[in-house]
Amino acid sequence: MTRDGTQAPLRVSILFSGRGSNMLALLDHMIARPENYAVASLICNRPNAGGMQAAQERGLTTKLIDHSGYETKAAFEAAMHDHLTSAGTDLICLAGFMRILSAEFVAQWDHRIINIHPSLLPLYKGLDTHRRALEDGASKHGCSVHYVVPEMDAGPVILQTEVPVFADDSEDDLAARVLAVEHPTYCAALDRARDDF
Ligand code: GRF
Repeated sequence: MTRDGTQAPLRVSILFSGRGSNMLALLDHMIARPENYAVASLICNRPNAGGMQAAQERGLTTKLIDHSGYETKAAFEAAMHDHLTSAGTDLICLAGFMRILSAEFVAQWDHRIINIHPSLLPLYKGLDTHRRALEDGASKHGCSVHYVVPEMDAGPVILQTEVPVFADDSEDDLAARVLAVEHPTYCAALDRARDDF
């Protein structure tokens, strides 16, 4: 908070590993609200991730921190921590970031990491959420944005959005229906996290 009572823009870093559609949705949301947000860093752990190319095509600077170049997970996380800190990060958004973060890393960023998960948590933690929902004959599915705690996909939920599951859905149909609500859900959840900051 500044002296005149206004809040400084929240500096957000986004970590991603793949396609990067949530990363791009968050970016658009932040860029449209410069009074509320500043992009601290866009960090990817895989050199060939589609999201890297998509960000670079938009003229955005990305930071590659390739986990495979570090001997230990601790060394990889130390490099991320140093970069996040030097970028002035207030809040970290995990957007399809496919490395499990250690309890030590999470503790360093306590209540300052949020994640999107493609299920209605606490249902279907972990991978293959769409397949598992279909196998169970679930009638509804969706996505959740939550604070990150050491236990995977277990932190307090900020926001969820439901979608229907139809009898003839394929895994791809359901994944596409969920992804369409992930983007606005993540942006709205980011706004809530900012209000809470
Ligand atoms: C999304 O479904 C997200 O919920 C999950 O990984 C996927 C990432 O997609 N954690 P994208 O890279 O954001 O397009």
